[in-house]
Amino acid sequence: MREGPSLPSFFRVLSFCELDSTNEEARRRASAGAAEGTLIWAMTQSGGRGRRGRYWISPPGNLYFSIILRPERPIGLAAQLGFAASLAVGEAAAPMLPPSARVSYKWPNDVLIDGRKTSGILLESQTAGEGRLDWLVVGIGVNIASYPELADYAATSLAAAGATVTIEAVLEAVAGRFLFWYERWRADGFAPLRAAWLSRAGGVGEQIRVRLHAEETIGLFAGLDEEGALLLEGAGGKVRRIGAGDVFPATG
Ligand code: BTN
Repeated sequence: MREGPSLPSFFRVLSFCELDSTNEEARRRASAGAAEGTLIWAMTQSGGRGRRGRYWISPPGNLYFSIILRPERPIGLAAQLGFAASLAVGEAAAPMLPPSARVSYKWPNDVLIDGRKTSGILLESQTAGEGRLDWLVVGIGVNIASYPELADYAATSLAAAGATVTIEAVLEAVAGRFLFWYERWRADGFAPLRAAWLSRAGGVGEQIRVRLHAEETIGLFAGLDEEGALLLEGAGGKVRRIGAGDVFPATG
């Protein structure tokens, strides 16, 4: 274990040279009773996990961490904190980049720089019965020094986009902004997060392609509903609400 950086007192940082996955470690500790605000940080992951069962390549030089939360809210609202994490990464990254770089969000939780994926977020949760959350793990990966060649989406890193930053500085900035949005969500609900996310979302009002579990569908990206689901307007103006999937430009 190594010394952690300086973060708000809400966080208790546990840092590791290598883990299988910071989400896995956070899950283990959450199940064993670890407190809200426990933050698991690793320099590299041997089994980093992405959304929908994918692998998250995790060489040294990038940021990998997971936060344990215990909000007293219904489990159905947990996914909204993925938007808090996207906002945190976007707002931390934007001032580190050259003014010409454009930070945008891709549903549900990706952060893009000039249209290329720079960060991924993985939420995992456990119920306490009666639909209430016992714990939620928010896992955040940010490409800082390097990025993988992704099979289905172009990627980049903060360094490739022109930022000269340390991992510690990115962790401090992202954790600070995450705490801001987490507190805002607890005080005021999802509406302010939704508005902030939409103000930087790519492709609103444009045609997008959405890959679902067993099909792909094309439509107009009509925004988010009050819970964070994607609204896709099909032919004839019928709006479909999508809770899980991957978004791509309609062409390409
Ligand atoms: C995605 O598929 O876009 C989500 C990727 C999430 C990666 C992060 S890295 C830190 C945390 N630990 C993991 O194993 N995954 C998340």
